[in-house]
Amino acid sequence: MRTSVAIIGAGPSGLLLGQLLYRHGIDAVIIEHRSAEHVLSRIRAGVLESGTVALLHEAGVGERLARKGLVHHGIKIGDQNALHRIDLTHYSQGRHVTVYGQTEVTRDLMEARTAWGGVSFYDASDVAIHEPDSTSPYVTFVHEGGEVRIDCDYVAGCDGAHGVSRRSIPAERLSVFEHTYPFGWLGVLSETPPIDDELIYARHEQGFALCSMRSMTLSRYYIQAPRDENPEDWSDDRFWSALSARLPESAVRALTTDPSLEKSLAPLRSSVTEPMQYGRLFLVGDAAHIVPPTGAKGLSLAAGDVSVLARVLAGLYHQGRQELLQAYTPTCLERVWKSVRFSWWMTHLLHSFPEEDGFTRRIKAAELKYTLESVAGRTALAENYVGSPLADVTG
Ligand code: FAD
Ligand code: DHB
Repeated sequence: MRTSVAIIGAGPSGLLLGQLLYRHGIDAVIIEHRSAEHVLSRIRAGVLESGTVALLHEAGVGERLARKGLVHHGIKIGDQNALHRIDLTHYSQGRHVTVYGQTEVTRDLMEARTAWGGVSFYDASDVAIHEPDSTSPYVTFVHEGGEVRIDCDYVAGCDGAHGVSRRSIPAERLSVFEHTYPFGWLGVLSETPPIDDELIYARHEQGFALCSMRSMTLSRYYIQAPRDENPEDWSDDRFWSALSARLPESAVRALTTDPSLEKSLAPLRSSVTEPMQYGRLFLVGDAAHIVPPTGAKGLSLAAGDVSVLARVLAGLYHQGRQELLQAYTPTCLERVWKSVRFSWWMTHLLHSFPEEDGFTRRIKAAELKYTLESVAGRTALAENYVGSPLADVTG
């Protein structure tokens, strides 16, 4: 079998790239090692930057997003018992974010791909990338008991943090910059109306808490927990009382507690791999970089990479612009490091670190107060939270 671009992974990066390439008339095949149902069952991102929303419209999958996505013009920050609002739109020259679940984005993209008959292999095992530094790379895998080989011009490694793509690049050709945090987020999904019509990020001496949502009837809550915590040790009652203790009283009054639909723990870390390409293999989204979820940047960073790569490939195939190949890594990394910095900053500001001394705690309390009280502080938070427009690599 032959295709122009072999895409490894059917998460948001792989599916969105496949959709944009289809719109550019470039042939691609997607190879995913899990089932479509499994991919759809992963509850992850909930907040999209406007650049990501615009890209989903450009990809032709914005219809349900426009109907069901919740436009948010502000967020709330809890500081011990006080609740402050940041008007995102006011402090970011009219921009906003959209609340729309990653599962919904994935479902829209999968349905669009099925509708036009895009080729995808789910449940593929032993996926391997061969000769990525040559002009004729190929991918092999086992599907329904048979070995499959796909020859291609380029490989897009959209296979997340634990995929095969990054491992296919010789270690001495990569630099990995990493930072781990001594905690994770314990998340709960519950069929209840959200506590507030906006998200609440809460700093508290017992630890961080986040009140988010997927719709006006489905809530998503997180609390900071030790990174090796077992979610099964957390009964619903234990979760709701830990959450309530960390939120300002004025907010807790509106909290509806019901049995959880899902409970999971995500350890927090930051990681960036440089460069994001090797020969004809490109690393895209979580395969190249991970950010802690504070600030909701991961999915939009992935969308930023996809947008750049789709434009690079369109320039190569339709205009013969070979020089664009070299533009992928620097264009993506500029945006990536801004979000890595912002997520790191917001994580430090709002979480309690074990063994944090009294001096550090007071410095952080003063920094949060400055951020909330000054125009410069609010502007910096709002501008970074809503994100910047996606880069145009074609000049
Ligand atoms: P993935 O979603 O990881 O997809 C990779 C795909 O590749 C998977 O389907 C996987 O099965 C497949 N794969 C892996 N290995 C192989 C292989 N060897 N062969 C073939 N296929 C393979 N981001 C936001 O922007 N906003 C948020 O609000 C937000 N909240 C989050 C909350 C939590 C709790 C977590 C954990 C993450 C959150 N994120 C958020 C981050 C966001 O979910 C990720 O950045 C996003 O999923 C990245 O998409 P991706 O397609 O690059 O990678
Ligand atoms: C969600 C996740 C985040 O990381 C965040 O900052 C906001 C919302 C969510 O899953 O809803």
